[in-house]
Amino acid sequence: MKSIVLAEINGPLRSIEVEDPAPLDGHVLVNLRSAALNHRDVWIHQGQYARLQFPFIPGSDGAGFIGNDPVVINPGMNWGANPNVQSDAFDILGMPSNGTFAQKVLVPESQIHPMPDHLSFEEAAAIPLAGVTAFRAVVTQGKISSADRVLISGIGGGVALWAMQFALAAGAEVWVTSGNQTKIDRAVDLGVKGGFLYTDPEWTKTARQIGPFDLVIDGAGGEGLAQIMKIASPGGRIVCYGATSGGVPTFSPHILFWKQLRLLGSTMGSPDDFSSMMKFICLHKIVPVVDRIFALGACAEAYTYMEEGKQFGKIVLQIPV
Ligand SMILES: NC(=O)c1ccc[n+]([C@@H]2O[C@H](COP(=O)([O-])OP(=O)(O)OC[C@H]3O[C@@H](n4cnc5c(N)ncnc54)[C@H](OP(=O)(O)O)[C@@H]3O)[C@@H](O)[C@H]2O)c1
Repeated sequence: MKSIVLAEINGPLRSIEVEDPAPLDGHVLVNLRSAALNHRDVWIHQGQYARLQFPFIPGSDGAGFIGNDPVVINPGMNWGANPNVQSDAFDILGMPSNGTFAQKVLVPESQIHPMPDHLSFEEAAAIPLAGVTAFRAVVTQGKISSADRVLISGIGGGVALWAMQFALAAGAEVWVTSGNQTKIDRAVDLGVKGGFLYTDPEWTKTARQIGPFDLVIDGAGGEGLAQIMKIASPGGRIVCYGATSGGVPTFSPHILFWKQLRLLGSTMGSPDDFSSMMKFICLHKIVPVVDRIFALGACAEAYTYMEEGKQFGKIVLQIPV
């Protein structure tokens, strides 16, 4: 089968023929039609990820066929019995196991979900990892309600855009941040009230006049997270799912305790989160925001495009039949 193979940190993303996966009890072979990138793929390529094993086929997101049935794969495996946190055995499709940047992938049968009727393969492939991360952050951990004023940071990102779509579908008032005014304008076109340029050192002053925000969904961390605590409502919830900008240099517990904030961590999602998300997407007929579709063989260009951060939405790979 045609596949992308990565053999070393920062190595070439080689487009080569490899053996089809061997059958395994309890597993099913998915004939992939589309896959999608996550920032995780870039972190792995750069060596910034735990327990790396080479060579392997990257990719966590995929949609394709089992027989004649269109399916979507849940990439979060071995969550375990506790809905509050994943088990030590939790892992993600596409490292250490071979992933979706190939014509076929072998996954445990329990990871398979029917593909929503209203979506194409390219749109469906944009759901899994970013979608479930956003759904758990917004719904399970963030406990969103239609009365909430919500702030979502870095709206160009795959997870952030899903968070925006779930929050809008829940009936909340949504605001965003971005490093790019065009991305804020596009989010406004999709239904958010407005946004703030996090590159403007004064952005929190403007945001304070509009806020405070009952629920903040943040994937950036860094100094921005310290600023977010200042514009969160007293008693507000801040859900943190990523650290694109690294640690928080000026974290002060004073604001945390005085405003009685709830700072919540969130990682991907349980099998129940994934099933609930799929139902929610079908109920609200949500169509993912796909920025650009690359051919599987142009995977290296897709990685560069994600590293440049120019995207607004998911970067998808089309798998040749
Ligand atoms: N915990 C989990 O389970 C989980 C799951 C998925 C992802 N993640 C993490 O979440 C982060 C986002 O992942 P992704 O796949 O959505 O990445 P992505 O599609 O590459 O998006 C990254 C986004 O980060 C935003 N950003 C960059 N610098 C920022 C800053 N200083 N302040 C606010 N936003 C900033 C940018 O938004 P603009 O372009 O709008 O400026 C960019 O679009 C990554 O760190 C990833 O590792 C965690």
